[in-house]
Amino acid sequence: MSLLVTGGAGFIGSNFVHGWLASSQAPVAVLDKLTYAGNPANLAAVQTDARFTFIKGDIGDRSLVEKILIDCKIRAVVNFAAESHVDRSIHGPADFIETNVVGTFNLLESVRAYWGRLDEASKQKFRFLHVSTDEVYGSLGPEDPQFSEENQYQPNSPYSASKAASDHLVRAYHHTYGIPVLTTNCSNNYGPFHFPEKLIPLVILNALAGKALPIYGDGSNVRDWLYVTDHCSAIRRVLESGRLGETYNIGGWNEKTNLQVVQTLCSILDELRPRSDGLSYSTQITFVKDRPGHDQRYAIDATKIHQELGWKPAETFETGIRQTVQWYLDHPDWVAGVTSGSYRDWIQTQYGQ
Ligand code: NAD
Ligand code: DAU
Repeated sequence: MSLLVTGGAGFIGSNFVHGWLASSQAPVAVLDKLTYAGNPANLAAVQTDARFTFIKGDIGDRSLVEKILIDCKIRAVVNFAAESHVDRSIHGPADFIETNVVGTFNLLESVRAYWGRLDEASKQKFRFLHVSTDEVYGSLGPEDPQFSEENQYQPNSPYSASKAASDHLVRAYHHTYGIPVLTTNCSNNYGPFHFPEKLIPLVILNALAGKALPIYGDGSNVRDWLYVTDHCSAIRRVLESGRLGETYNIGGWNEKTNLQVVQTLCSILDELRPRSDGLSYSTQITFVKDRPGHDQRYAIDATKIHQELGWKPAETFETGIRQTVQWYLDHPDWVAGVTSGSYRDWIQTQYGQ
């Protein structure tokens, strides 16, 4: 089975490619537009692997996608490609509609054309796995039960609305055209290759640079953190054995407030890379203006994927967060590569002085 991984040069996509090539013989083609978030360095370790092909391009480019599907004899598509940062969607939603909605539509159209020409056995085996987010379900109150697959969609940001729209399109292509689709809705990921616009890598790098550690509002917002390789193993399970047309929630049973996350990062850094003045990195914590429409709490009920497919995370928050900090300390070249140029413009736009 040849696999097409869209958005494979991004954070989760690149971790998925590494995990796939380590656990399967099947070839992988990556299609990635290489936006600010796409980074060839994330795939440097597999560049010379004969099973790996990289194509720079847009999921919305139908002729390119159809050519890849045919030339690489693709038997499954895993769609990670997206604009993924909530704050950027607040500053400029247009790219989110273009890639997450229109791009997914065009990708589905390319798949529909290709799948329609396959023989019956290949049609049956084909899979389109759409990687989505828990943010489509909206925001929970402190006492609400976690999001299950039955929750209503109530997206609150341009990002989550665009992901919700893409989920609906994927569902419709199954019901209307019979495309064999699977959708996963995962909670917050963290780990290697995470672009430092997101909370965890931003805080690690700002701490080491002696900069403020910006916490929106009062830091009481809750996220359910999952180590990225656990998300990737869940996707492999769903691809292998998920029931067609179904959605599977993926989460780590690790609810933390943002303040708890940042304090944990500070104490690990205090231990692994103490500040020269002996003070804790937590003295750099700064409360800043809240994100507009900031969702209060996300939490995933991962019972379905556990009971149906036997998946559970391998890492706890404590083991995963320590490995993550160590990874950033061990990869100064990667950090230098992603924190130049347009990254600085974004930090200036979002955080000002
Ligand atoms: P990311 O921003 O790190 O990577 C996205 C990748 O998609 C980049 O390599 C980018 O170049 C590529 N891309 C963007 N537009 C494209 C286009 N039009 N055509 C081809 N490639 C394009 O994102 P991520 O954090 O790795 O998230 C991957 C997917 O997982 C997204 O769909 C996101 O919604 C979903 N997700 C993310 C999280 C999380 O915590 N990061 C959690 C749940 C779901
Ligand atoms: O829940 C899954 C989602 O998780 C994914 O779909 C998104 O692609 C991914 O970006 C992530 O969204 P969040 O908005 O939850 O992640 P982010 O890292 O941007 O923020 C995490 C929390 O930290 C959130 O409550 C906002 C807060 N925050 C974030 C930044 C960047 C801060 O307090 N300060 C910051 O500087």
